Amino acid sequence: MEDVAIRIVDLQKSFGEQRVLDGINLEVEAGKITVIIGKSGGGKSVLLKNVIGLIKPDSGEIWIDGVETTSLSERDMNNIRMKFGMLFQEAALFDSMDLFDNVAFPLREHTKMSENEITSTVEERLKQVGLTGFSEKMPSELSGGMRKRVGLARALVLDPEIILFDEPTSALDPIISLTILDLIKQTQTYFKKTYLVISHDILGMFRIADKVAMLYNGKIIEYGTPHDIKRSTNEATKEFLNATKIPGFTGGDL
Ligand SMILES: Nc1ncnc2c1ncn2[C@@H]1O[C@H](COP(=O)(O)OP(=O)(O)OP(=O)(O)O)[C@@H](O)[C@H]1O
Ligand SMILES: [Mg+2]
Repeated sequence: MEDVAIRIVDLQKSFGEQRVLDGINLEVEAGKITVIIGKSGGGKSVLLKNVIGLIKPDSGEIWIDGVETTSLSERDMNNIRMKFGMLFQEAALFDSMDLFDNVAFPLREHTKMSENEITSTVEERLKQVGLTGFSEKMPSELSGGMRKRVGLARALVLDPEIILFDEPTSALDPIISLTILDLIKQTQTYFKKTYLVISHDILGMFRIADKVAMLYNGKIIEYGTPHDIKRSTNEATKEFLNATKIPGFTGGDL
């Protein structure tokens, strides 16, 4: 894989009169954690769905590992999707399957692994996310944080080159959020894959990001390290950062 895992060029997407993406340009570095921040309703999920081919843009290009994907047939796009793991905003588990089968699903769909190989892979992934011994539980028996961890295990199970995370810490309490963020950081440090994370949780995201991109009015208006973004002089960025300050937080640890 080249240094740039995902290259987005002049991407535009409108729904009716509403222009959500208005010329997105972004290069996502391979083997790094890139976080896209921006306000709720700003188009972060729409951007991610374009990357994975669930939404087609009106114009622009998306290059993944050197292949332009917006013009691919559904079948060719399916092959590209094999490179991806995805943790959806609502962990999107199969409610009728226990944890083991949820995590095993991509292996059964996309590989010819034997049941023994599947068992050892799934158990290893469940262990990585701290859910050893839970494989027979149903999603409805789990807390929100546990469901996210199952989603993470499933996103990791095929050893994908690129993992997309849509709001990995939304709807979680602050302690569980930190656990999930640390888990994301640890797995990325270990596997060195490309992680693209979208979130409006700035405090959390600045803990794990190598690079941060700020989405505003349909464009990426800032790109840099968390350190760069924290020192931004751009009014929209400053306003966004200030709006998320929590009582007692000085900004010093961002
Ligand atoms: N399939 C769709 N059809 C019509 N409008 C859509 C569709 N998907 C998203 N939108 C609109 O696009 C805008 C951006 O939505 P999106 O879900 O990308 O926001 P977001 O930045 O992910 O917000 P949040 O942080 O709350 O998840 C919203 O106004 C939304 O209503
Ligand atoms: Mg969203």
